[in-house]
Parts: sequence; C-alpha cells; structure tokens
Amino acid sequence: MASPVSRRAVLAALASLPLVLSNTGNGLLAREPGAPVKRFARSAQRHFGTCARIDQLDAEPALLEAVLAQCSSITPEIHLKWNSVENKKGQFWFEPVDKLIALARQSGLTVHGHTLLWEQSTPDWALRQMRRERDWGLVEEHITRVMGRYAGSIKRWDVVNEPIDTQNGSRSLRQNTFHKVFGPTYIADALNTAHAAAPHAQLMLNDYSFEYDNSVERDRRAAFLKLLERLKGDGVPLHGVGIQAHLDLGKGPLSERGNRQFLQAIADMGLFILITELDVKERDYSASIATRDQRVSDEVRRYLDIVLAQDAVQGVTTWGMTDRFSWLTSKNRGLPYDVQMQPKPMLTALAEAFSRAA
Ligand code: XIL
Repeated sequence: MASPVSRRAVLAALASLPLVLSNTGNGLLAREPGAPVKRFARSAQRHFGTCARIDQLDAEPALLEAVLAQCSSITPEIHLKWNSVENKKGQFWFEPVDKLIALARQSGLTVHGHTLLWEQSTPDWALRQMRRERDWGLVEEHITRVMGRYAGSIKRWDVVNEPIDTQNGSRSLRQNTFHKVFGPTYIADALNTAHAAAPHAQLMLNDYSFEYDNSVERDRRAAFLKLLERLKGDGVPLHGVGIQAHLDLGKGPLSERGNRQFLQAIADMGLFILITELDVKERDYSASIATRDQRVSDEVRRYLDIVLAQDAVQGVTTWGMTDRFSWLTSKNRGLPYDVQMQPKPMLTALAEAFSRAA
C-alpha cells in the first residue's frame, strides 16, 4: 500500500518539539520539561491519543507533526463509521482508514476502533432495511466485515456507541433503531457478534455525560453500571468501557465522589476504562483568551487527577488536537492546540496530570 504521507513529513514530525511544557513537579517533568505527552503517559503506564482524519493530517503538516509527536494512540474520527465505510449499500470506502492505519503503523501508534454500531452514524439505507426486514444478518455482516478487515491492526473496539438514555428509555436504554427492531438484547448480540468476528479483540461500550453532579448525570452513571452488571452477569464478552468525557464549563463542578465511585464500580467488574473523547465546552467566550485557556486547563487538570487515580484507566484520548477541527466549532478553545496550531495550557495540563499519576 502506498505511504499516505511523505517520509520527510514523518521524519520532520518526529523531530523534537519546542519546549512547551512548564517545569514543575518531579520525575520526567523535571528532567525533560519538553517531553511529549505520550512520554508522560507512558511513565504513568497509560497511553495518550487523539481522534484524527487522514484528510486533515494530509492538509495540515503542523497537525500531523503534533499528532505524531504527542500521541501513542489514534482514533479515526469519522471514517470507520458505517455511514462512511458503506454510505451506499454494497459500495465500500475503506481508503481513508487504510491510510490512517498505515500512518499509525509506520509511526508506532495503536489504533482505537470507533465505532461499529451508533444510530447517528448508521446510513439511512441500513436503518430502513433493518426496520423492514428485522434481520440481524445485516448488522452481523457489517460488524464482521469491518472487524475482519482490520483484525491485524485494531485490537480494541467501541462496539456499541451511546447505548444509554435515562430520560426516554425503558431500562434506561436508548430507544434507537437497534433497540426498536431487535429489542434490548441488541447490545449483547452486538458484543457476541463482535467476539465471533474477532475473538482476540477487546470489546467496549462507549458513552457520555457521567462527570457532573446533577441528577441527569447521576442517573446516567447508575444506568450505565446496571447495564454493565447485566452484561457481565450474563457472561457477555465485554472487556472495557469508554467514557467520552466531553467536559462542559456550564455544568458546575465535577463530581469527584461520583466519578471515583463510578470508576471503581466499573473496575470492580473487571473491566478496563478508557477516556475516549476528552474536550471542554466553553460557555463564556467573552473573557480574555488567557482566562478562557486557564479555565479549560483547570477543568482538564481536575478531571484527570480524579480519573488517573484509578488504575483501571488505561489511556486518555482527546476528541481532536486543534480547535480548528473541533466538532464543537473552531470558536471553542477546548483542545490542546489553538486554530493556529499553537500549544495551549491544556497540553501542559495533560502532561502534568500524567506526570503526577506516574
Ligand atoms: C463526531 C465527529 O467529531 C464529527 O466530525 C461527526 O460529524 C459526528 O461525530 N460522540 C462520538 C463521536 O462518539 O463519534 C462524535 O464524533 C462526537 C460525539
């Protein structure tokens, strides 16, 4: 397969970074203040990653450089989703994922498989066909095809994305098309299907809004734990849990106790935990840039200090590297680099949090 980026670009990217991290604390941070975040993560026996798109990496050399320098893991942001790999029935488009995986392999990054089943990224033709025929074979074919193709390069998968809904759901499960057509067992069926397709892969559920001290998120934590307990109790192949962690400065203080108990309960079930989509939504764009960046990095520091105290947390992935391509809009400053690819205090907060956890 042709190399997706020039060798020169990769070598340039691997060259050492400017010193952007402050020299506070002990260990690696004191010895190597400019070390990339992945080194701090490794010293805490974790990985650090980001989501990415090959088209954006190709178009923006500074982004490629930052991703290769800072990350030990990468998550395809959109190109593994069903509506990307098979937007039209029977017409497959694997090229962008193949290229991202080639880059990852060349650069020593692991790849996180996101995601096999998510209503929002299921093509309309498949939703219609499911409603019409009620045939699990369609889902099975999709899961088996995608996992089979990447069996050699993707070892962990978000099998079902966003299964929880405490506000409109029976047993707090989201009333999506899969639930409506196949019933509440669709989650176990998807995990069993994935396990049959790739017996050595680590299988995960991934969901959001577990971090804050309000009744909705308290209910969501409880509902997610109940779902995990049911699945584990039934012996369903489930190995890990993804916590998206889209933090939000408008939601009040993080629930330290709620997060700790939640993570401990997951760990007690023998599951590993990944923080899969970390970013911070701002609510006040009127403050100075310095103040806004401080608020974002403080929230990240508070959150990571809570979650990295839990040994079952094996890695942290941010949902993007630069505000320029953030799904939240480029006006928001909730990622490690700004729109000009300048590093922000959030990058330092990440390194320091891993350093404290080492
Ligand atoms: C988002 C991507 O960032 C967008 O580019 C895309 O248009 C929609 O999906 N939770 C998830 C991710 O699990 O897959 C979503 O990613 C963000 C919310």
